[in-house]
Amino acid sequence: MKVPVRLIEAKRNGEVLEPADLRAFLEGYLAGAVEEYQMASFLMAVLFRGLDARELDVFVTTMLGSGASLDLSYLGAPRIDKHSTGGVGDKVSLVLAPLVAELGVYVPMMSGRGLGHTGGTLDKLEAIPGFRTDLSLERFHEVLRSVGCVMIGQTADIAPLDRRLYDLRSVTGTVPSIPLIAASIMSKKLAEGLTGLVLDVKVGSGAFLGDPTQALELARTMVAIGETRGVPTEAYLTAMDRPLGAAVGNALETAEAFECLAGGGPGELRELVVHLAAAMLRLGGDTRSEAGLRGVAAACLDDGRALRRMERLVDAQGGDPAVVAAPDRLPRAPVRRVIRADREGTVAAILPRPLGEAVVAMGGGRSRLGDDVDPAVGFRVRTRVGASVRAGEVLAEVHAADDVAAEAGAHAIRTAVRFGEDAEALPLVSHRVTASGVEPVPGPTETL
Ligand code: URA
Repeated sequence: MKVPVRLIEAKRNGEVLEPADLRAFLEGYLAGAVEEYQMASFLMAVLFRGLDARELDVFVTTMLGSGASLDLSYLGAPRIDKHSTGGVGDKVSLVLAPLVAELGVYVPMMSGRGLGHTGGTLDKLEAIPGFRTDLSLERFHEVLRSVGCVMIGQTADIAPLDRRLYDLRSVTGTVPSIPLIAASIMSKKLAEGLTGLVLDVKVGSGAFLGDPTQALELARTMVAIGETRGVPTEAYLTAMDRPLGAAVGNALETAEAFECLAGGGPGELRELVVHLAAAMLRLGGDTRSEAGLRGVAAACLDDGRALRRMERLVDAQGGDPAVVAAPDRLPRAPVRRVIRADREGTVAAILPRPLGEAVVAMGGGRSRLGDDVDPAVGFRVRTRVGASVRAGEVLAEVHAADDVAAEAGAHAIRTAVRFGEDAEALPLVSHRVTASGVEPVPGPTETL
């Protein structure tokens, strides 16, 4: 292996690295021959200089090859997953996995922890008392076979290099890079033995790559990686200029996901869940019309089947299934503060990033490698973009560990909720990206 500092310098200077050198550097990190600080520095160089197509291919191949790839063909049915590029209040995976499994498609889902200012599915799941995301491979197969879905993290067995890089990027400001995000997501997904993949690529100020042009490039990059490696992949550009739903913070989001599974919850969360569920079913070979697919997904939320499937999943992964129907059993923060509008006006924006950053600062995410997270802290936003509010009306609740953190949370709400004349919101789902190109997605045609 080349001396690590030479590779860091070469990338810093904008050189294209030799595949063998790059592979040895990445493998050296996993083996302990490259230090954390060297990898952090290298990742920052990649963030500024990028990777060309061949370097990206080495990244994906090495990350994928750092662990096992699953062969799930014995299931004899479609295996479809969904992955989001990361947002604030994005609890979609917790609803989608049991919902789509209930509709006959296997969902072997490998997720991440909170990354930067965004929340992570694993942290949300671990808010459920007893829930285990670190299953052995044997148990992974058992749960998938019996429940139809399973939700785990990158492990020592699958995509361990992503697990290390993901944690490091989260605390070193090296997340917002198209090749690093694409390699991270696609290496995990390609290891899952899927027959199809749906990607939720966030656009707007709360996304890692908020600018639509960059989000589109990220979507195209990931679709190309999936298709080249034999996994039919499609991506949707979805709004992250506001939090998704009302809850931000692990246990609060988990509770909101359960509400959605029970047929309720915020309209935008349900709308996105139904949209992505239809996409997963279609990729799984279901030939019903778009309206038909949306209808079966919505009905499955409304008649309690998705909720019961979630109870089975929670039980199978060691959690307390009673919390699914009784989310008030989830961890609760000792301090709650209600934040009210200090004037009358129209809510022009609810900025997601200050809320996501505040959750991390309040202990609900990680500032350093290995930090524990407090599942109970966060926000429930009680207003929405475009609402006319009166002075004194409730804007949000802050859930915090103590009064000092609650004050910081209150400040975040006042920063995030903007008053003004022109309320503008991105369409919830704007574009679909497939191997054949990019097409606009029309707005919802029916009320679900
Ligand atoms: N999700 C991932 O798995 N990796 C990223 O880099 C961003 C979002």
